[in-house]
Amino acid sequence: MSGKPLLVTCGLPYTNGPCHIGHLRTYVPADFYVRYMRRSGEEVVFVCGSDNHGTPIVISAEREGSTPRELSERYHEHFYETFRRMEVIFDRFGMTDDAMNRDTTRSIVERLVDNGYVYSKTISQSYCPECERFLPDRYVEGVCPHCGAVARGDECDQGCGQHLEPGEIKDAICKICGGKAEYREQEHYFFKLSAFRDFLLDYLPTLGGTATARNYALGWVKELLHDWCITRTMEWGVPFPGSDDLVVYVWVDAPIGYISFTKEWAESAGADWKDYWCGDDTRVAHFIGGDIIYHHCIFWPALLKGAGYGLPSAVVASGMVTIEGKKFSKSRGYVVWTNDDYLDQGLPADYLRYYLLSYTNHTKELDFSWKVYAERVNKEIVGTLGNFLYRTMYFAEKEFAGVPDRAPQPAILEEIERSLAGIDAAMRDYDFKNAVDSMMALASFGNAYIQNNAPWKLIKEDRAAAQQVIADCLQIVKALVLVFQPLMPDAMQRAWTMLGYGDDIAAHPIAEATAPVGARALPKPSPLFAKIEEAQVNDLEKVLNKRVDAANAAAAKKTSTVSIEEFGKLEIRVARVVSAEPIKGSKKLYKLVVDLGGEKRQVVSGIAQFYSPGELVGKDVAMIVNLAPATIFGVESRGMILAAGDEASLLVPLRPVRPGTPVR
Ligand code: MSP
Ligand code: ZN
Repeated sequence: MSGKPLLVTCGLPYTNGPCHIGHLRTYVPADFYVRYMRRSGEEVVFVCGSDNHGTPIVISAEREGSTPRELSERYHEHFYETFRRMEVIFDRFGMTDDAMNRDTTRSIVERLVDNGYVYSKTISQSYCPECERFLPDRYVEGVCPHCGAVARGDECDQGCGQHLEPGEIKDAICKICGGKAEYREQEHYFFKLSAFRDFLLDYLPTLGGTATARNYALGWVKELLHDWCITRTMEWGVPFPGSDDLVVYVWVDAPIGYISFTKEWAESAGADWKDYWCGDDTRVAHFIGGDIIYHHCIFWPALLKGAGYGLPSAVVASGMVTIEGKKFSKSRGYVVWTNDDYLDQGLPADYLRYYLLSYTNHTKELDFSWKVYAERVNKEIVGTLGNFLYRTMYFAEKEFAGVPDRAPQPAILEEIERSLAGIDAAMRDYDFKNAVDSMMALASFGNAYIQNNAPWKLIKEDRAAAQQVIADCLQIVKALVLVFQPLMPDAMQRAWTMLGYGDDIAAHPIAEATAPVGARALPKPSPLFAKIEEAQVNDLEKVLNKRVDAANAAAAKKTSTVSIEEFGKLEIRVARVVSAEPIKGSKKLYKLVVDLGGEKRQVVSGIAQFYSPGELVGKDVAMIVNLAPATIFGVESRGMILAAGDEASLLVPLRPVRPGTPVR
C-alpha cells in the first residue's frame, strides 16, 4: 500500500434525464470497489456529482419551459436519491455548476493560458440566421464530414463515432427552428492537445485500471491528436476568462468537477485536497463507461499535466449495457429505468448489484434481460448463497440454540484464506466478475460441505461430530457475509445480525473472516432472499415490450411526416395541357404533352377513363416536375399529374396563373 490515500470517482451523470441501469454500471462497481478496499484497510475517498452544463441540458430546459439550473437541481436530487437507494454512497456528491467548480475551472483555464497551452483561432461555426444565434454542439444536426452519416453537432453518433469540432458538420440544420444553418466566422480558443503526444505516449503505458482503456487511448494517440476547441458561444456554463460571450466547453469543467468535489469534501472533513490532486504519486481512480475513454485517458490527463496537477493513476472503463440484446436507446424504447422499472417494483438493490457485477467481465458488453436476471438471482443468490447461509444458521439455532463452542478445522480456515486471496487479487485487478465468482464458489463449497457431512443425520449418532460440522459451516458463513458485504450491503447486514452480531458489519475488516465466530446464542433465522416469480418476470417483460412498441409506433409516425426541407425538394408546378392521346395497349393511360412555361414536357397519366382528350387540352393542372423519369408502356414520362380520389379529379388553379408557376 503506497503512502497516499486513494480517491475514487465516477463519471458524472448529466442532469437532463433519469437514471437508467446503463448508468449503474459506472456507479455500482465503483461503490463495490470502494467498500471492498475500505474493508481491506485502505483509506478511500469516494466523490462524484452531477454534470450540469452542455447543450442537451439547455435544450431540455427550454423544451419544458424551465431554466438549466432548475432542471439540473431536480435531476441532481434524483440521481443522489437513486444512488442512495442503490446503496451507492459517496462522500460528496456535488454539482459542476456550483461556485467551487466555477472557481476551480477558471483557475485551471488561466493556468493553461499562462502555460501557453491555449491559443485563439477564427473558425467558421454553424449559425442560425432565423434564430440569430450560434449553434454549438447539439444545437445542430447534419452530415458527418468523415463518413457521411447523419450526425449531431459534436459527434457522429450513428456513423463512425468520431468527435466533431465546431464548424466541422456538413449541411447543418438548426435544432431549434429546423432551418438551414449558415457558417459564420468567430474567434474561439483551442487547447493544444497535440503538444501532449510524447507525454501521453509515456504516461499511458503506466496508467492502471482496465487494459481496454489504456489500449484504446494509446491507439488513438499513435494515430492523430487534434487540438480541442474549448469554448462555446452560449450563456449556460462557466464563463471563459476574459470573454463576455464564451463559456468553456462542458468537457473542460466536467472532469474538473472531480477536483472541486474533492475540495468540497475536504472542507467539511478537515482534510487537504492537495493530498489527492498534487504531486507525483497521486492515487486517483476514475470509474467510467467505455463511451468516455477518450475524454478520461487523453484529454483529461493532458489538461491536468498542462495545468501542473497530479495525474490519474487508474481509469476503470466498463463495457456498455445493452437491453435484451439491443443497443441502449431511449428513443427506441430499449431502456430500463432504475426507479420506475426496478426499485419501485420492490426489487432489491442487492440483486441488481449482483447482476451488474457478475454477469459478464467488466470490460465486456453486458446485456440485461429480465429472464436471465431472474435465473441468476434464483439460482445463485437464492439457491446457492442464501440456501447455505440459511440452512446453516437454521440448523445451528434449532439443534444447538447458537454457535457451538468449537474451533473450525484448519482445512476450513485454509479454504477460506485461499478463497479470500483469489478474491483480493481479482479486485485489485478490477476483475469484478472473477471476484464475485470466487465469492460464489466459496458458497458452493459450503453447500457441498454441509451436504456431504449431513449433520442432520450425524446428530443422531454423534452429536459432537455434528457440532464440528456446524462450527465449520458457521465459519464459512461468517467469511461469506464479510466478503459479500461490499456487493450486497443490505442483505449482508441482515445476515450479520442473524449471526448474532449487533453492530455495523462495515466496521469489520474482511480479514476477520478467519477469526472465530465465538460461541453465542443465535436468533431464529429467516430466509435472506426471496425468489423472483415467473409471473413477475412476465410483468416486467411486458413493461419493456410495451415501451418498445410505443417507441416503434412513434417512430413510424415520425417517418410519415416530412420536414419543410424535404417538402422543399419536391418541385410542383402548374402545367398547361397541350395535347393528349391514348397509349396503345392501355385503357387507362394518356400520353400528355404539357407546357411548363418555356419548356414542353411529355408525361404519362392514368386518367384516360375519366377524361376525353378534348376535355384536357388547354386545361391548367398541378404536376410534380422533378420526379425521376420513368418509361411506362414504352413511353417516357417526365413528371406526374396530380389528381384527387378514385375518379382522378384534377387539381386546377382557382385563379388564372401562368404555366410553370410553382405550387407551394
Ligand atoms: N457527463 C458525462 C460524464 C462526464 S465525466 C467528467 C456523461 N454522462 S452520462 O450521464 O451520459 O453517463 C454517466 C455515466 O454512465 C458515464 O460513466 C457513462 O459512461 C455511463 N453510461 C451511460 N450509459 C451507459 C450504458 N448504456 N452502458 C454503460 N455505461 C453507460 O457521460
Ligand atoms: Zn434556427
